[in-house]
Amino acid sequence: MGGTQTPGARDYHLLAIETSCDETSAAVVRNGREVLANLVSSQIDTHRQFGGVVPEIASRKHVESITVILEEALRKSGIGLADVDAVAVTQGPGLVGALLVGVVAAKSLAMALDVPLIGTHHIAGHIYANRLVGEIHYPALALVVSGGHTELVLLESEGRFRIIGRTRDDAVGEAYDKVARALHFPYPGGPHVDRLAAEAEGEIELPRAWLEPESYDFSFSGLKSAVLAEINRSRMKGETVNFASLARGFQESVIDVVTGKAMRAAAEFGVRQVLLCGGVAANRGLRERLSRLCGEAGVPLLVPPLSLCTDNAAMIAAAADLKWRRGEFSPLDLKADPQMPLEAWSVASE
Ligand code: KG4
Ligand code: ZN
Repeated sequence: MGGTQTPGARDYHLLAIETSCDETSAAVVRNGREVLANLVSSQIDTHRQFGGVVPEIASRKHVESITVILEEALRKSGIGLADVDAVAVTQGPGLVGALLVGVVAAKSLAMALDVPLIGTHHIAGHIYANRLVGEIHYPALALVVSGGHTELVLLESEGRFRIIGRTRDDAVGEAYDKVARALHFPYPGGPHVDRLAAEAEGEIELPRAWLEPESYDFSFSGLKSAVLAEINRSRMKGETVNFASLARGFQESVIDVVTGKAMRAAAEFGVRQVLLCGGVAANRGLRERLSRLCGEAGVPLLVPPLSLCTDNAAMIAAAADLKWRRGEFSPLDLKADPQMPLEAWSVASE
């Protein structure tokens, strides 16, 4: 291919696109780690009035924004189209109509520029956002906590993903958003519950969903129901619910379980590093607890800055870099895959 050269021979630039949910993002990353531009156009204000993401509206908004965001990312990066060595795009998982917008844009660009196309897994992106801030030491354990995903992923070596636990119902962020709605906060409510929990003076004790003793899986729907039941119980008795204590109780239950399981896995698999990622990694209580527990266990913890925790295209470039360095490219008839499995996206060669 015309624009391709041997990785490592000179500086290379990946242009990445992310449109899997409600953020339209384009980024330019040099040599896999240096973020030259990472533009994110959020649709949250549009979706807020509906209390959650409306897929059809998300797709239309992506169509409206994608060209502008791409042009702006290129302009900000200071490179020209001729300097783009490969185009990376989120192939899945995500909303099919939203993914399609990014995939079509990426395919057109890759074809027009005659450079490789790299279809990339969204969760691999969240995990490899950590490589934009530090070196990853293997084996590593990633705790992925976002609006759509809650997973414990073991990375035995670079780019090899093994899911050892996942949610059986709601994702953590989803549970936060549902509880936030019950506490009358706007979408997305996670940050509001986090703040309220930190301000609370008391705590309403709620159950912990540990599941089977050996399991690394999660379940948050029971906890969410317990919050709703507590609100109903108080209302029926004519009492005022202490929202702050309830937020604290919910947050403590979530943090106990996710950090408890992560630390047990870290010990069992003898990992050299724990990686926290996804939008809920912004949670102050979670960050503090995990960093304390990792400190006590002597396992270094990596956490990306907030801008790289929520959906963005720089993280997609960081994951795509795994494939770029190995020459593992996608065909130009790449299809968006709303249910794309993570493990199958692992690199083929060491
Ligand atoms: O990773 P992300 O940007 O989108 C997905 O790929 O899902 O995560 C968004 C989620 C939302 O559910 C939001 O409420 C949650 O992350 N979130 C938080 C906090 N900040 C964002 N949840 C708890 N505490 C926070 N501080
Ligand atoms: Zn995400």
